[in-house]
Amino acid sequence: MTVVRKNILVAGANGQLGNELQLLFDHYPGFEFFPADVDVLDLTDQTKTKAFVAKNRIDYIVNCAAYTAVDKAEDEPERCYEINKDAVAYLAEAARGKAKIIHISTDYVFDGTNTIPYKETDQTNPPSVYGKSKKEGEEILFSIHPESIVIRTAWLYSSFGNNFVRTMIRLGNEKTELNVVADQKGTPTCAADLAKAILDIIVHAEENKTFPAGIYHYSNEGETTWYGFAKEIFRLTGINCRINPIATAQYPTKASRPMYSVLDKTKIKQTFRIDIANWEDSLKKCIDKSIKTN
Ligand SMILES: NC(=O)c1ccc[n+]([C@@H]2O[C@H](COP(=O)([O-])OP(=O)(O)OC[C@H]3O[C@@H](n4cnc5c(N)ncnc54)[C@H](OP(=O)(O)O)[C@@H]3O)[C@@H](O)[C@H]2O)c1
Repeated sequence: MTVVRKNILVAGANGQLGNELQLLFDHYPGFEFFPADVDVLDLTDQTKTKAFVAKNRIDYIVNCAAYTAVDKAEDEPERCYEINKDAVAYLAEAARGKAKIIHISTDYVFDGTNTIPYKETDQTNPPSVYGKSKKEGEEILFSIHPESIVIRTAWLYSSFGNNFVRTMIRLGNEKTELNVVADQKGTPTCAADLAKAILDIIVHAEENKTFPAGIYHYSNEGETTWYGFAKEIFRLTGINCRINPIATAQYPTKASRPMYSVLDKTKIKQTFRIDIANWEDSLKKCIDKSIKTN
């Protein structure tokens, strides 16, 4: 019997999550991967996006591409919407009838007024341009291509690109003292864990011949504050830098962030039989594996 390999487009392949997905390709031999970032496939080019999906007979699209500069987005909303909403629509149109989409979204679609973990069915109310553009990206995706999965994640870090872990390690090595916000609660997410979960979802879909479309939440388990996160980073790396807990009001940013954005992961765990590691364990693994040595 000939086994037909499925083709997976990873859009935004040079970002944090895209790079972590690329590291896993060899572990998923049943698939042919097509990693593409803006230099290979600019998703804001509708014609090229359509042609790419058709020419390469793409079966699954993992969309990691996004405009992720949360504060800058307040000053250039058009560019942010172009990538986080319009490009998602082009991708959805290109995929309709051909490919299934796993699209990545964010905890910033919530306003942060909850006191218990956010479920997929909870009301969204993004307080920032970035959050609004991502929410509208989710909506336009489902309106054009309902056979899609949206995974909302949070506080993503990896050994690639700009993220809180790398910034703290850099600043901790440069300074003797740092102020870190201690009143915003959430859960750090190791991008390598999310990348594996995404590919396991595709394997699950292939094995079960089902693609349960809808919104899912994924982060690591547990919760902390940016202050707690920074303390753990310094403990694990042995960086000797004093951290002072401060309030959000003492660290004004252009875009406002949700004060609470812990995600409820029950649905993704039950649907796809996924185990999720605690954030401290994943942070230790990530730091031991790569961040320390980069
Ligand atoms: N980072 C977080 O803390 C966080 C939290 C929650 C959710 N998320 C979501 O998780 C996903 C992955 O985030 P990430 O941190 O991996 O993002 P990232 O590191 O910023 O990567 C995004 C990638 O998309 C590329 N891109 C931008 N415009 C594009 C276009 N027009 N066509 C093709 N590619 C384009 C970027 O290229 P350039 O660098 O050249 O622009 C970049 O390589 C995103 O959907 C994000 O919204 C992230």
